Amino acid sequence: MSETHTLPLPLLTAPAVTAVELTDAERSELVAVAEQLAPEVAAGARIDDPAWLEAARDASALLPRTLLATLRRFRHDAGPDGVLLLRDMPVVANAPLPVTPTVKGSVERIPTIAAAVITTAMLQLGEVVAFRNEKTGALVQNVVPVPGNETSQSNAGSVLLELHIENAFHDNRPDYVGLLCVREDATGDAKLCTSSIRRALPLLSERTRAVLAEPRFLTEPPPSFGSLDSATPAHAVLNGDPQDPNVLVDFSATHPLDDEARAAMAELREAFMATMSALALRVGDLAVVDNRLAVHGRTSFTPAYDGADRWLHRVYAHLDHRRSRVDRADNGAVLG
Ligand SMILES: [Fe+2]
Repeated sequence: MSETHTLPLPLLTAPAVTAVELTDAERSELVAVAEQLAPEVAAGARIDDPAWLEAARDASALLPRTLLATLRRFRHDAGPDGVLLLRDMPVVANAPLPVTPTVKGSVERIPTIAAAVITTAMLQLGEVVAFRNEKTGALVQNVVPVPGNETSQSNAGSVLLELHIENAFHDNRPDYVGLLCVREDATGDAKLCTSSIRRALPLLSERTRAVLAEPRFLTEPPPSFGSLDSATPAHAVLNGDPQDPNVLVDFSATHPLDDEARAAMAELREAFMATMSALALRVGDLAVVDNRLAVHGRTSFTPAYDGADRWLHRVYAHLDHRRSRVDRADNGAVLG
């Protein structure tokens, strides 16, 4: 059922998303907050320990005021692009950055400056969560290219990653996806691509909007979550206010159920391509994607597997913790 798409080069080479840069003083403040969560201070600290997450939640209230205000504004309304780009976030204090991991399922267990920075920022947007069937339920995950996984439509691949809503198949998918660049792609080829439905909607015909708003689509889970048999029930791609809808689609996992739905999905993809932003993340860039308004993907790149490849941390947050309680054992942070 799956189709192969070719993603044309982005029309935009500069980020259209709004970027916020920290001052040196704010950066120092942020390092001080993150250091309180590092094992040098919090002996034996482990990211997935509820006690660490609690400490991180408290610490998140101490982030620099401009950062708090920026996150709060973004939570209120993610703007026309549905993406927030925070620049110059600290990823190390004094220690050198370790080599980029090259193994599948790589995660961060011991809190680092970078892990503390992304977690505290995401905790000001919502509750940080993970999925048991994805990277063993770790809260801070590494997005790195993995040898042998080049063609995978996942964070481990390096071929073009199709535009998608994160975990589109899941009822309790995250509301926000945070991606913090700890090492940039030396070639500059790997670009985070984002497109928002707010930009794309005006390019769609009335008929296409109507078709996309009907339950004429199926989204399959990735293999780690089960087979296509366990796909979500038929769903609409556009939900909510027809003038300002949410979008639910993964162009490598969502399947139209009829020809008209197929044409509508193709038109939507064209509209996303025409309004896409492409950004080669730099060290310290924290991109937060509103997973209800914006799809994301990545251009292809060529990893060297030499320890210096592109390396992102990924953290999810959602807004309504009670809504997912049924999926979270012991009221923890992991859905599964
Ligand atoms: Fe993703």
